Amino acid sequence: MKVVFFSGAGMSAESGIGTFRDKGGLWENHRIEDVATPEAWKRNPDLVTEFYNLRRKKIIETEPNKAHFAIAQLENIIDVHVITQNIDDLHERAGSKKVLHLHGNIKYAKSSGPNQDKKYYLLKNWNLTKHDLCDEGYRLRPHVVSFGESVPAFDEAAEIIKNADIFIVIGTSLQVYPAAGLIQYANNAKTKILVDPNANSINGIDDFKVYSNTATEGVLLAINEIKKI
Ligand SMILES: NC(=O)c1ccc[n+]([C@@H]2O[C@H](COP(=O)([O-])OP(=O)(O)OC[C@H]3O[C@@H](n4cnc5c(N)ncnc54)[C@H](O)[C@@H]3O)[C@@H](O)[C@H]2O)c1
Repeated sequence: MKVVFFSGAGMSAESGIGTFRDKGGLWENHRIEDVATPEAWKRNPDLVTEFYNLRRKKIIETEPNKAHFAIAQLENIIDVHVITQNIDDLHERAGSKKVLHLHGNIKYAKSSGPNQDKKYYLLKNWNLTKHDLCDEGYRLRPHVVSFGESVPAFDEAAEIIKNADIFIVIGTSLQVYPAAGLIQYANNAKTKILVDPNANSINGIDDFKVYSNTATEGVLLAINEIKKI
């Protein structure tokens, strides 16, 4: 039996990391156009670097929550995969072994040159600077997929979701594409569950069992459900 969790910003909300939509489309008081698009990097790489440095510092100071740990512990009894839209590493720090990041991982940087996704550079501390260069001498940029950029891990994620027996969506508004389109691949799953306190505002989930709960409450309910199967 393969269980696949698909998580978004809501998964880390109870750890103290702000979600995206709650702030009126602003991300930590910054307009997306200024910090999370390819144009933003071209226009002002220092601002983008500083924005993600502060995100990284915050994430390093943040602990996984009960929901992260419950998912990690489930690996002891069942085959669990985590596909996350999050750039934080809280799933891994809770102990999850099979985690696929769709939108990048804040703990890494990548080249801003032509071979961006060829190699990811693990950062030693939270502070990336303009003097940090890739092997080919280009400035390093945060390993984050900007809005409008392709999602290199999409096909791998679709393959994993296609083989899910149980598919559980947690804390995502399913508004950021192409990632949100991945739920269409879960058509072999016998059980599909969605956990979100604002589930009534999410579309395209008619065939999901819905828990209008927070991640820490809803994940435990979902896991109890799995254990009954
Ligand atoms: N932690 C992170 O790494 C982080 C944080 C913010 C944004 N992002 C990026 O922004 C994009 C935003 O899309 P998204 O759909 O993930 O986020 P979103 O902000 O669009 O949606 C978050 C969802 O989480 C729900 N939510 C709020 N509190 C919750 C809780 N305690 N438990 C469960 N659910 C809760 C909200 O109702 C909402 O539906 C992502 O693709 C991601 O890359 C990442």
